This record gives sequence, C-alpha cells and structure tokens, in this order.
Amino acid sequence: MPQPSVAFAKLAAPETGVLVLLLAEDLTLPPAAAAFDAKAGGVLARAIAKAAFKAKQFATLDVVAPAGTDLDRVIAVGLGKPADLAEKDWARLGGAVAAKLLEVKATTATLLVERADGVAVTPDQAADIGLGARLRGWSFDAYKSKKKDEDEPKAVKLTLTVESPSAAKKAWAPRDAVADGSALTRDLICEPANVLGTEEFAARAKKLEKLGVEVEILGEKELKKAGWNALLGVAQGSKRPPRVVIMRWNGGEKGEAPIAFVGKGVVFDSGGISIKPAAGMEDMKGDMGGAAVVTGLMHALAARKAEVNVVGAIGLVENMPDAGAQRPGDIVTSLSGQTIEVINTDAEGRLVLCDVLWHVKEEVKPAFIVDLATLTGAILVALGKINGGLFANDDTLAARITAAGLATGETVWRMPLSADYDKLIDSTWADMKNTGGRDAGSITAAQFLKRFVGDVPWAHLDIAGTAMGSPSTELNKGWTSGWGVRLLDRLVADHYEK
Ligand code: BES
Ligand code: MN
Ligand code: ZN
Repeated sequence: MPQPSVAFAKLAAPETGVLVLLLAEDLTLPPAAAAFDAKAGGVLARAIAKAAFKAKQFATLDVVAPAGTDLDRVIAVGLGKPADLAEKDWARLGGAVAAKLLEVKATTATLLVERADGVAVTPDQAADIGLGARLRGWSFDAYKSKKKDEDEPKAVKLTLTVESPSAAKKAWAPRDAVADGSALTRDLICEPANVLGTEEFAARAKKLEKLGVEVEILGEKELKKAGWNALLGVAQGSKRPPRVVIMRWNGGEKGEAPIAFVGKGVVFDSGGISIKPAAGMEDMKGDMGGAAVVTGLMHALAARKAEVNVVGAIGLVENMPDAGAQRPGDIVTSLSGQTIEVINTDAEGRLVLCDVLWHVKEEVKPAFIVDLATLTGAILVALGKINGGLFANDDTLAARITAAGLATGETVWRMPLSADYDKLIDSTWADMKNTGGRDAGSITAAQFLKRFVGDVPWAHLDIAGTAMGSPSTELNKGWTSGWGVRLLDRLVADHYEK
C-alpha cells in the first residue's frame, strides 16, 4: 500500500476530491468548515444532525457526493474533547484520517486543520498529523504476487490546509525524515530471513552512505582477529557469516563525543542447539528488530540533518544449529576478555551485544549508549506489547527516555538492576553464565549486558514485546510498528542537538 504524500496549503475548503474536517464533541463547525457549509447550503450541519454523529475521538462521519458541491465526499473526523488531546495524539489523528481515506479509496484529499474552540493548531501538531498519515499508510506487501487492481488502494495525495503553511512545512521536513526511517525499520523487520541474511542486512545499511552516513562493515576475518568470540560463537552454527556494521553521522561539532545506539541483529533465531519449539518460530525473522531500529534511526537523523554526532552499531548473526554450532557448556572469551559459560544457546542476543557494547565503549568513547534488543520472552510476560522494558545505569538518561516515550506514545517502563540480580549470572566455571534461570529473566539479561559497559551512561531497551507482532493501531496496521525510531529521534532532538 503506498504511503500518502503530504503537502501543505493555506486553510480553505477544496472544490473537488475529498474534504476532511475536524469536529469536536460540541459539534460546532470550525471557521473554514462553517464557511464551506454556508456556501453548500448547510449540507454538513444536516448530515451531522441526521446521523446523530457524536464526534467521539477519531470516529468518522462520511457524507458521499454532497449535493450542491463537486466534492467526492466530506468526512468529519471526531476530536472528542480537543483539550484532552495529548502531544502524542496528533499523529494518531493523522493515522485515523489516513485509515479512513484508504478505506474509501480516496486519491485526493484536503484536511482543514482547525479547531472550533478558538485554540490554534500549532505547526508541530499539524505536521504530526502528516507523520501519522504516512505511518498508517505503510504496509509490507512485496511478496503478494496476486494483486487485484480494483482492490489496490491508491496513493492518497493529502493536502493539509493550515493557517501558516510555511511554518507547518518547516515542522514537516524532520517528520518526513522520521517517517522514512520508520518505514525502513519496518521493512527490515518484515523481510523474511531467507531474503534478509547478515550480508543483505549489511548491504541495506551501506545504502545510508547516500545520506552522508559513514558506514563501516566488519567481516568474519577482522572479528576473529580482534577476538569477538562471544558474537562469533553464536554465528558459527550458520552458513551466513557474521557482520558488524558501524554507522557514523557527524552532524555535530567536530571532536564532540558521539552518542551511540547499539542493536541486536539476529537475522533468524532458531535457538541454536537449545532449539526453540516450532510454534511461533517464524516470528524469529524479526529478531534483528534492535538493529533495524538503529538503522532506521540513523536514516532519520541523517535525512533530517540532525546536529549531533552519533554512532549506530549493529551485530548481525544467524543463530542456527548445524554441526559446527556452539554447545551448551561451551566457554567463550568475549572481546572484553571476560569469559562466558554458554548455558543455553538460545540466550544468544546478549552474546552478540556484549562484544558490540564493549567495542563501542572502547573505540567510540561515547557520551552514552542506548542498546535495543528483542532480548527476552520474559519482558513480554512482564509488560506485554504496551511498554518497552527500560534498564539503565543512569537516572538522567532513563528519565529522558521515559519522557520521550510519553511524548511520542512509544512508552517505556523502567525495570530494576542490582547486585543481588547480578549474582544470579555468576558461573562455576567462567566469569559469568549467559542465563540466570527462569526468574527475573529480563533483569538477569540486562545485568549481563551491564558487565560490558563500564562507567558509560547506558540504557537497555528490551523490545521483544514491542518490536514485532504489534497490535493494529491508528499508526500501524502491520506486524511491526517500528517501535523505537520515533522515541529515540525525540530523545536526540530534545536533549542532544544544539
Ligand atoms: N529472541 C529471543 C527473545 C524473544 C522471544 C524475542 C519472543 C521476541 C519474542 C531470545 O534470543 C531468546 O530466545 N531468549 C530466551 C532467553 C532464555 C533462553 C534465557 C527467552 O526469552 O526464552
Ligand atoms: Mn534466542
Ligand atoms: Zn534472540
């Protein structure tokens, strides 16, 4: 399904196509909509009354071929109580508008972005409507060979008419970039593992060079030579060679310490020798969700020319059980020199991340690290698909991520870390083991990662619940929402740019 194209123009009703207007619970027509209705002989006021439309939040009223006009239809979208709209809701509104336009197969639509209560819709809010529309319009249908033309929704040309088009356009440019980054993340997550292996993922990341991102790809030889043995141990049961991709966007001051994002990129997680049950294993094509968010975020930051130095680092491996696969009981010496007893080969994400985290800490010397990983089923048990699990060794970073979550709707819930949990991964044979048993599974996974970041301010987002199998919402009707791109873009914009 093609995403809507978004344009801005001066607030006014169109002559043709679809007219969309916003209506609050009190049913007062806002000024431009009222002017249109007066000219059209009160067609709207009558339809609203006859349909007993209540204008509940994001409910729609559809008036087909309204008499006295050349319009295809008029769609009123409910705002509920406009004062109840939180910052995150403007994108949801745009998503609801796009969903309705797709449903009625509109090709050209004009939205009157105005409120009846005399409160101005800000340029940021108007631009968020456009962002939501683009997000909702995304879908992954690359592998549907039988497309019935008549069923195919057309790309909607959506014009948002606003009081100040130039201000809205300015607010739109970065959101357009974020929509592109989110689409990239979603595409990567949906792509099946037979198509998107480690090398193919690296090649997709390499394309960010077009946006001015420096992309360095480390291959098996270099990883072996440098001693990334924890990561290599995971990869050794697969035909696909491991890759580590380092992406650098230098939009900030020369010499300023970069911020860093690290992603788990297991292109398929069979569990390895500790093989997973068959039911649901197909979802493990999405076990590179953390790496996909980092890549999409780098795309967004570069495309909007973010004024910050940022490094994105992803570890790409496939976890498979062939004759060369690592075994439970194996002991590996990680890049950090710390030794790890592999109790369960299905706890592979932390083995990949520990080497990438160590490398970033040592070589990049970042101001902070945020890692993202579809790390544990346990976080899904704890938080469902509603919140990402947040772990941090730094309260300021944790608070900033929490706030960015509330602003974007990609919310997180902070989980604990402590020495008592850390003890659970001590090993009889090595410095640590890669699982701490059933209890507190997400926390012991985070404690494991914490052993590789030293004193660097660090946050870990366990996105096993939010990265995939996403519920259908105003912003998303696919299997993944690209959760994390908007959250982290916001974190950067609010705190790390000039
Ligand atoms: N990739 C999985 C976690 C996962 C589960 C992601 C469900 C998305 C949905 C991870 O590698 C894994 O297998 N974790 C194990 C850890 C256990 C063996 C300690 C888990 O959660 O069961
Ligand atoms: Mn696993
Ligand atoms: Zn995994």
